[in-house]
Amino acid sequence: MTTSATDQTQIAFLQQQPVKMLIGGQWVAAASGKTFETINPSTGSVLAQVAEGDVEDINQAAAAARKAFESGPWPKMTPSQRGRLLWRLADLVEQHADELAQLETLDNGKPIKYSKGADIPLTADHFRYFAGWATKLEGETIPVSIPNMFTYTLREPVGVVGQIIPWNFPIQMAAWKLAPALACGNTVILKPAEQTPLSALRLGELICEAGFPEGVVNIVPGFGETAGASLALHPDVDKIAFTGSTEVGKKILQASVGNLKKVTLELGGKSPNIIFPDADLKFAIRGAMTAIFFNQGQVCTAGSRLFVHKSVYDQVLSGLTDVARKMKMGPGIDPSTDMGPLVSQEQMERVTNYIDIGRREGAVTTTGGKYAGSDLAGGYFIEPTVFDNVQDEMTIAREEIFGPVVAVMPFESMEEIAARANKSIYGLAAGVWTSDVKQAHKMAALLKSGVVWVNTYNQFDAAAPFGGYKQSGYGREMGHAVLDAYTQTKTVWMNLR
Ligand code: NAI
Ligand code: MG
Repeated sequence: MTTSATDQTQIAFLQQQPVKMLIGGQWVAAASGKTFETINPSTGSVLAQVAEGDVEDINQAAAAARKAFESGPWPKMTPSQRGRLLWRLADLVEQHADELAQLETLDNGKPIKYSKGADIPLTADHFRYFAGWATKLEGETIPVSIPNMFTYTLREPVGVVGQIIPWNFPIQMAAWKLAPALACGNTVILKPAEQTPLSALRLGELICEAGFPEGVVNIVPGFGETAGASLALHPDVDKIAFTGSTEVGKKILQASVGNLKKVTLELGGKSPNIIFPDADLKFAIRGAMTAIFFNQGQVCTAGSRLFVHKSVYDQVLSGLTDVARKMKMGPGIDPSTDMGPLVSQEQMERVTNYIDIGRREGAVTTTGGKYAGSDLAGGYFIEPTVFDNVQDEMTIAREEIFGPVVAVMPFESMEEIAARANKSIYGLAAGVWTSDVKQAHKMAALLKSGVVWVNTYNQFDAAAPFGGYKQSGYGREMGHAVLDAYTQTKTVWMNLR
């Protein structure tokens, strides 16, 4: 594979290759001198060479983060100063919005209209929301029943935090992790996904420009089994925040045992999206489409199990099939693209394998199900795929596919569908489409998931908590809920006698 010049000419950041890593305020090569390739999934060509972090780089980053946490200017900064740095970072993200959106789209493949319209603005918004929290981390005074005692609590940072993020929303995942950690006064070692390291590294430059002291944010790109695993295992890292597969989430938890790291996990899903017959069906069909095909289906909350009441099943199935056929596939960088490629060849093969399994087990595609890259520069394109004739027990109805593949199934009653929707090892999100308010609230109560969307889907806001039930993980991100993950409570007793 050769480096494609046309993709990169616009972006100055990509001229300085190999892209280095950020440790202790310095941009450095890997200790081993090794680099790895990050690929443009729209073409399969190499986008950049990136420093490949491993155990030694993680050790250095952990030392830098520890130093910055214990003795740098960072712990002496006032909450107001921390808040200002986060606010300035939000401003810088906005000032560089076009460049960041292009970088994100080239590295991940996602349509530029979404990276411009959602990923980058939401990233800026996230930093701004948490800038506000820096000055609001209040303790409490406790009315204890022991005479003469004045007892109060302090909310202190956890310490050095390792953050391991996935490739589906690279810069947003970085913001979800960094913003609350920094608002609370922690220091960070961030490991971006090996498929999409670029936007986090560019964000690292903006973090330096904003004026964060050296060592407060360290960014070490590299592979999961090496850089990621050594971060998860490191004895001087106090906490790990992870977003990714449930399988790796379990490994992170096992690795935490050595020094009893605090761990928060945002893992996979197989989210039910349920359409009742009284829903506005046109609206619900569009909702079902974006629920599964947004971001090429590479969304932990993807509405991948679509349950439709049997009285409107045929209508919804044909409506969804129709809108899926009309989606425009193309390179992410083309402004008219609705659906881009999957992130990597590996992910494309994983999804293709699930489509094959679906067919073997007796499900039938009404549209899609094929490789679509032959006419599209050989990128990792899979057609939007709708499966009919699916049973709850089939593999494609149980396992996370993480691609543009939806299993459509009929149901008859509310009680039946709540039980079927909940029959999953996952519990991340659920959708309900109905115009009956009572039914909506009843379903919201019955569904065992961290988020329920009614007559909408995939809504996220920095102020609204997000996280999973069951094997979709634990801990919450966003809102004030996440502050629990990045602070610890100290109780102070003063004898006033
Ligand atoms: P993954 O869970 O392997 O990767 C996510 C992150 O974890 C990456 O930064 C990776 O380098 C790191 N990692 C991998 N192995 C590690 C280890 N042993 N120790 C520490 N860090 C490690 O996900 P992958 O392989 O990219 O995708 C596999 C499947 O995972 C997808 O098909 C999808 O089902 C699920 N997934 C879920 C995501 C979510 O948002 N919940 C995001 C990405 C993947
Ligand atoms: Mg993996």
